[in-house]
Amino acid sequence: MQRPGCEATALQRPDPCLIVIFGGSGDLTRRKLIPALHSLYLQGGLPERFAILGCARTAMNDEGFRQLLIDQGSGDRPSDQWTGFASRLHYLSLSYDDNGFATLADALDKLDDTYDLAGNILFDLAVPPSLYPVIGELLGKSGLAGEEKGWRRIVVEKPFGHDLASAQDLNRILHRWFREEQIFRIDHYLAKETVQNLLIFRFANAIFEPVWNRRYIAQVGIVATETLGVEKRAGYYDRSGVLRDMFQNHLMQLLVLTGMEPPYRLIPDAVQDEKVKVIRSLRPFTCEHGSSIILGQYGPGRSQGEPVPGYRQEKGVHPDSRTPTFGLMRLFVDNWRWQDVPFFLISGKRLQHKRTRIVIQFKEVPHHLFRDLAASPVLGNRLVIEAFPEESIRLTFQTKNPGPRLCLRPMTMEFTYREHFRAAPLDAYARVLLDCMLGDHMLFWRQDGIEAAWSFLTPILRECEPGSRSCPPLYPYPSGSWGPDIISETVQSFAA
Ligand code: BG6
Repeated sequence: MQRPGCEATALQRPDPCLIVIFGGSGDLTRRKLIPALHSLYLQGGLPERFAILGCARTAMNDEGFRQLLIDQGSGDRPSDQWTGFASRLHYLSLSYDDNGFATLADALDKLDDTYDLAGNILFDLAVPPSLYPVIGELLGKSGLAGEEKGWRRIVVEKPFGHDLASAQDLNRILHRWFREEQIFRIDHYLAKETVQNLLIFRFANAIFEPVWNRRYIAQVGIVATETLGVEKRAGYYDRSGVLRDMFQNHLMQLLVLTGMEPPYRLIPDAVQDEKVKVIRSLRPFTCEHGSSIILGQYGPGRSQGEPVPGYRQEKGVHPDSRTPTFGLMRLFVDNWRWQDVPFFLISGKRLQHKRTRIVIQFKEVPHHLFRDLAASPVLGNRLVIEAFPEESIRLTFQTKNPGPRLCLRPMTMEFTYREHFRAAPLDAYARVLLDCMLGDHMLFWRQDGIEAAWSFLTPILRECEPGSRSCPPLYPYPSGSWGPDIISETVQSFAA
């Protein structure tokens, strides 16, 4: 069979389907989902026959919905490109109860008839997490999860649960009505082009895998620092904090992609199996032993040159809040490949720069032939995989500085996506929605993965609850810095 050439940028078209967005009048729909679907439409990534139904409690009709999206900046001014897409946008005012879902079932039948959608429906839960189990249950009870007529899929946004017990409960409820193959648990980090490239980099090149282990690697840094503060999400964030918001999902995914063994084939289940093994191999730790976890909270300072308030002064945050906005964890993966190699996971809001990167710090050479010549220590090689906003791979190594004296000088070889690839990467949300329509699970969390991640993190979270005997201190740091003083050197060594 002839494989499509990689130059071909045409997207694979999914089967006809109806996309139902719960939380249709909300922020996520406006900021991410509609723009992503619109961009898919423009690039030929939506089915030939499709319709989108926004549902929410707010009373509105189709026209009102379309206008709202334009007013909120998700739609273009009237233009050919927007009008064709907008004519498929519909809206239903919905109450989240049995009556509401009976009305919804009728509306879905009508849209299916009008657009000839073969009964295929994608349900996207762009609603507060407390509604995930409610909607899952209502979809099931009203018969909308059954696949007698076409496929039915449900997309669950993060956070998937608040701890292990709530994640298990949610899985149980969803599984009462949906099979695992029908459930898509989103982690938008997995849809970033450079994150996907990690598998190619590791497993399609013969030169890295032999050194990708404890014999050659001294430590690994997984970094996701942000300049933004809590923005308008205090209600959610103050209950979650950085460990739930970033560590349980995004950083954990970067860690497993860096640490996993090669899957036996590039199919979702084989990849997920290897990922879960890494999470299960994480060495548990307790906060009492210090040094494994540092937490912080941003105070007032400057961000991008502007004065900004501290976390406790943000709208909606409790003035005595002890929610961490910064975390550093030192983890170990107890297996043959990684025994005793520290993995530093670092994330925080209101730090000096936005960086999402993986840093592989190789060991120094075993014998320092040049020790007496070098003014400073001969550092080990370093590989930096930048995932966002820069998308690049950099390898630093030692060279001879030109001149009569034998002096060493570290130099960096760099590959950047921007310079070498012309095609603009598909937006992360567009990518995940497209994969849901295609039924491809590669970029999603599987149930056991998400539960393994919570199993590891839940005891730590419990210890970090204010009032717990072993609760680690919460260090303040000024906005615009590199985090709490006691750790900022380590943070800079990976993130600056
Ligand atoms: C989200 C978190 O999942 O990821 C946010 O809830 C965070 O708090 C965001 O700002 C970071 O995503 P990105 O793609 O900007 O690195």
